[in-house]
Amino acid sequence: MALWGGRFSQGPAQSVATLSRSVDFDWRLAQYDIRVNVAHVHGLAASGVISVADSEKIISALASLSSEIETGKFGFNDSDEDVHSAIERGLIEKLGALGGAFRAGRSRNDLVVTDFKLYLIDHIMEIAQTLTQLIDALNRVADEYKDALAPGFTHLQHAQPINFGHEIAKHSHAFLRDIDRIADWLKRNSFSPLGAGALAGSGLLPHPEKTAAELGFKGPLLNSIDAVSDRDFVAEALFIFSVIGIHLSRIGEEFTIWSTTEFGWAKLDDAFSTGSSIMPQKKNPDIAELARGKSGRLIGNLTGLLTVLKGLPFAYNRDLQEDKEPIFDSIETLQVILPAVIGMIETTSFDREKMARGAVAGHALATEIADYLARKGIPFSDAHEASGKCVRLADSLGVEVHELSDSQIASVHVDLMPDIRSLLSGEGATSSRTSISGTSSASIAAQVRALDEANRAALNAIKESRESFSRMMSI
Ligand code: ARG
Repeated sequence: MALWGGRFSQGPAQSVATLSRSVDFDWRLAQYDIRVNVAHVHGLAASGVISVADSEKIISALASLSSEIETGKFGFNDSDEDVHSAIERGLIEKLGALGGAFRAGRSRNDLVVTDFKLYLIDHIMEIAQTLTQLIDALNRVADEYKDALAPGFTHLQHAQPINFGHEIAKHSHAFLRDIDRIADWLKRNSFSPLGAGALAGSGLLPHPEKTAAELGFKGPLLNSIDAVSDRDFVAEALFIFSVIGIHLSRIGEEFTIWSTTEFGWAKLDDAFSTGSSIMPQKKNPDIAELARGKSGRLIGNLTGLLTVLKGLPFAYNRDLQEDKEPIFDSIETLQVILPAVIGMIETTSFDREKMARGAVAGHALATEIADYLARKGIPFSDAHEASGKCVRLADSLGVEVHELSDSQIASVHVDLMPDIRSLLSGEGATSSRTSISGTSSASIAAQVRALDEANRAALNAIKESRESFSRMMSI
């Protein structure tokens, strides 16, 4: 149903209707549209534009439309341009002319952005809650492998031994930052555009602060032009989803490498890997690869939207209709990838022996020799030099630096005494790193406790906000 037409001699050409139509994707906003309309009708009744009796009729028709959408009894049809026109058609079907009364004092320009904000608030909180499950899964693995020695890499070369739990726990920190970004997004963006009308504010709805409060916003936006034009909140959300995607892709990359025959660290569960149609022996890390690959589309959605916004005039321009599909796609992408990644993390087992065997390879204990001398007061440049000479000697003998004998080590520097031996093992190297961010088992145990606590606090806050949001949504 068209929401305009009086000044036109004919309806839009078929090609225009097809181009214009957004209902196939913006139908996702239907329940939010109804809720926003209810608040708007309350506002109209309060300012006397419609009678209280009429407002009650409209609200109860909106409420039954809401349940009919829920059960699938009401949906959009071929003539509907967008979700807003479909809902108005539903209302007119129920109430006749009165069904058209509720749109006084608002425009689709302020309506669509208010609906969309509510949709995003709802779904970004859901993503945040799923992230707490992911963090929980990571924390469990980090704790289980807090004393499992493994090589630590820089430049993908063996660098220093670590405990594997440290490698896993680092991801929890990244996802906690994502949750924090979401909390920050909510704080900045919980302001209502409703009441901005087409662009100049509404003469019929003098108290947008009341509708804002009813919809759970902290208040109304203070400039009606900004209210209908601003899509920073969309760009910021897409950025957050892209960063989550990047974090997932880096996990994907690790699990892919770790499950190669060459590494052989990770054994993926049968339920979380896939086979090959031609090579019967294959067990492929497709979830990890899809986690890596899907980050591409998340980033694409962000850059697409930024490109739409660049140079766009104020206030509403139809280009802005392009803001929704990237968000729907990013959210729905995360909704499918996150549960699979959580399952993969929960079910993968790691080969402690294989990881430990590699932990000290590639002269990974050379730093311990330099640190030992530095502790004895030798300037670090000299200590580094001496340790480098030990590596050269070991290389020339075809052994690892920790396999040199006491006398071979002592031949390089007089201060290299046999008591260095206690440091020249994976266990010796990691257990000396007891600082708060270090890789000793004790530090990792404390780190996981702190991560658990932060995650619990985040989950409680998210649950509380989600409960109050769903109370707000019920009409
Ligand atoms: N479907 C439109 C959108 O998503 C709704 C707003 C239309 N406003 C207008 N002035 N044509 O942006």
